[in-house]
Amino acid sequence: MIGASSIRKEGRAKVMGTACYTDDKFVPDALHGVTVRSQVPRGILKGIQFGEGIPWGEFTIVTAADIPGTNRVASVVHDQPFLVGIGEEITHPEQPVVLLAHPDRRLAEKARKAVTLEVEERPAILDIQASLDLEQVIYGTHNLLKEIRIQKGDPEAVWASAAHVIEGEYHTGAQEQMYLETNAMVAVVEQEAAGLRVTVWGSLQCPYYVHGALKQLFGLPEGQVRVVAMEMGGAFGGKEDYPSVNAGHAALLAWKSGRPVKVVYDREEDLACTTKRHPSRTRLKTAFDAEGHLLALDVDFVLDGGAYATMSPVVLSRGALHSASVYRCPNVKVHARAVATNTPPPGAFRGFGAPQSLFAMERHMDVCARKMGLDAVELRRKNFLRMGDTMATGQVIREDLDLGGLMDRALEEIDYHRKRTTFAAANDSQNPIKRGVGLAVFMHGCGFTGGGESYLASVAGVEGLADGTVSILAASTEMGQGKNTVFAQIVAEALKLPFDMVETAEVDTDRVPNSGPTVASRSTMMVGRILEDAAISFKQALVQQGFLKEPYTADGFREAVAKAVATLGSVKCYGQYHRPPNIAWNDATYQGDAYPTYSWACYAAEVAVDLDTYEVKVEDFVAVQEVGRVVNPTLAAGQIEGGVAQGIGWGLWEEVTMKQGRMINNQMTNYIIPTSADLPQIRVVFLENPHPAGPGGAKGLGELPMDGPAPALINALENALGPLRLDEVPMTPDRLLGRYEEVTHG
Ligand code: MTE
Ligand code: MOS
Repeated sequence: MIGASSIRKEGRAKVMGTACYTDDKFVPDALHGVTVRSQVPRGILKGIQFGEGIPWGEFTIVTAADIPGTNRVASVVHDQPFLVGIGEEITHPEQPVVLLAHPDRRLAEKARKAVTLEVEERPAILDIQASLDLEQVIYGTHNLLKEIRIQKGDPEAVWASAAHVIEGEYHTGAQEQMYLETNAMVAVVEQEAAGLRVTVWGSLQCPYYVHGALKQLFGLPEGQVRVVAMEMGGAFGGKEDYPSVNAGHAALLAWKSGRPVKVVYDREEDLACTTKRHPSRTRLKTAFDAEGHLLALDVDFVLDGGAYATMSPVVLSRGALHSASVYRCPNVKVHARAVATNTPPPGAFRGFGAPQSLFAMERHMDVCARKMGLDAVELRRKNFLRMGDTMATGQVIREDLDLGGLMDRALEEIDYHRKRTTFAAANDSQNPIKRGVGLAVFMHGCGFTGGGESYLASVAGVEGLADGTVSILAASTEMGQGKNTVFAQIVAEALKLPFDMVETAEVDTDRVPNSGPTVASRSTMMVGRILEDAAISFKQALVQQGFLKEPYTADGFREAVAKAVATLGSVKCYGQYHRPPNIAWNDATYQGDAYPTYSWACYAAEVAVDLDTYEVKVEDFVAVQEVGRVVNPTLAAGQIEGGVAQGIGWGLWEEVTMKQGRMINNQMTNYIIPTSADLPQIRVVFLENPHPAGPGGAKGLGELPMDGPAPALINALENALGPLRLDEVPMTPDRLLGRYEEVTHG
């Protein structure tokens, strides 16, 4: 089963239109909930006015004063209110203040506009520099949401004697996940003998995050909250933490009205108000010896974390841990900060933090190569991590890592050396089309960072059903990445059963254990491994209790399960995460094994730039990666193609335009993402190297493809155009024109 391109489990329902997304859920008597937001970046809420012409008596109205439990969203830090109360501080312009519900969706929308807020405005902080400069103190004492330091050796001792010291500053912009389905929730709150019972159905990645947030919001015990994940039209990290907010809102309205409530954002609200990729600024200082060996690296990595901490601590951590990329370096200092601004808080987006710091380092390597008069490919080769080397945290590479071989495969696929020569000759002509090739080499840590997996202590299981088939019990959600299919393949392989005999149970917290959040590309490697163990225990239990004899056939297994269920009522086996041997992490010092292992990759891009329009066309793209064993080649290639498309969009076109802390191009017509017409054929190559900690040898791969495209593209742009200040993404035509004019007009 592992290695087969099994057909996507939920594919048929999606194609036939029978898959039930949250807004498809028919809920009789439901009200439609809408959110009144703050409008100003910073101020004190003084009053709320309900305007003329709206039958307010028909509405359910919720403000902060109504909240029965704690008015804080349970997250890494409990700093964000569900609703801002009168007398409290507004800290960004999309902050929820009042919730309204009415049976008529359009009237609810109209009423939202009839509410006015009296706000005493305060000066706001709108960008990283203003926050660092403490122009206003808006969060804690220093506007710091999180700060991390990593130190290895002493870079300060190297600068003076090094042959080359090269500095650079790189910027990356915000990015919208642009899942097809916008954020949506349905809530029902019942008054039971045991107290309130809150149930939420929604588009969400992490049912147990939402579960925890609802418990705290209503002050309820474990058993009184239920969260069900509906079919999801994509997430990309955008439904990691925000669903705790809108689920809370829907549940508050349901509780106050005594009726079911649907809260479904339209695209404009979703774009303006929900989380995005963190904007970043990275300053790098590197020292090399005369041959180009990296001697020292100083990283100053800053993320714009918006008004509340949300996922910033983990995004910052992953960014800091990937900031040295794939290079051996004896002296490294990393100073990473997430700073507060009066903007809607960003959150997780595919790669969270790694694409930002890797863009800086992989772009910087090309800049350094040019400045030292070395070839960018050979400079990388000279410095690649190999078995036995240590990373910045002291993590020792224990696998037989061959990044040179990986890179050579990408160079060969894209015909790098020949293109470098022929393009250089052609670019000298009067033709306004200039061509270039570039690459990036990078890695992505598998699973939660540091001690995260031990802390989560995830549980997942398998259950026998009355008809003799097997059901997977896990809170991991399907967002298009293929978890339903991959989990079934892993369990079917462990039990030696056909794929069709294994299905995934509905992700309902009343039914499935907490297998952790569906983030950090952890499902296949981390949860898959637990399921593999659970499946083997399940089979052993059937044998020990006399229901099953080995060897068995699929029919024999089916009969054994049916008999066991008929006899015992239910047959379930659970597995739990076990830290692999030889892995240690110290969260206080940031020393040790940041991840059990990494997936490794080299991406190469060919671009054509039109110097009449400054339009950049991606003509060819090669993605070579080592992700352990590939469980499902078709789905895996789809993950890479999709991630590369998002990476190309982030690198060239996707620009979040902000004004006074608000996104003003919050429509699909003016926030430009690539379509298939804008993309080349993305050529995907997997080099397999099974890893002992993953199920069947598999590692994580979902986010890896987001890391490489932007630096590969910008390096290719420099190859096409010569040394411009190409230090930022997205490199839109306007920005590129500006950079070009800097050199042509002085
Ligand atoms: N692929 C699709 N089609 N839709 C998604 O929402 N999310 C990405 C990635 N691939 C996503 C996707 C993100 S952000 C993550 S963390 C991983 O899938 C999560 O799934 P995994 O753990 O199964 O890799
Ligand atoms: Mo993915 S950004 O970890 O949901």
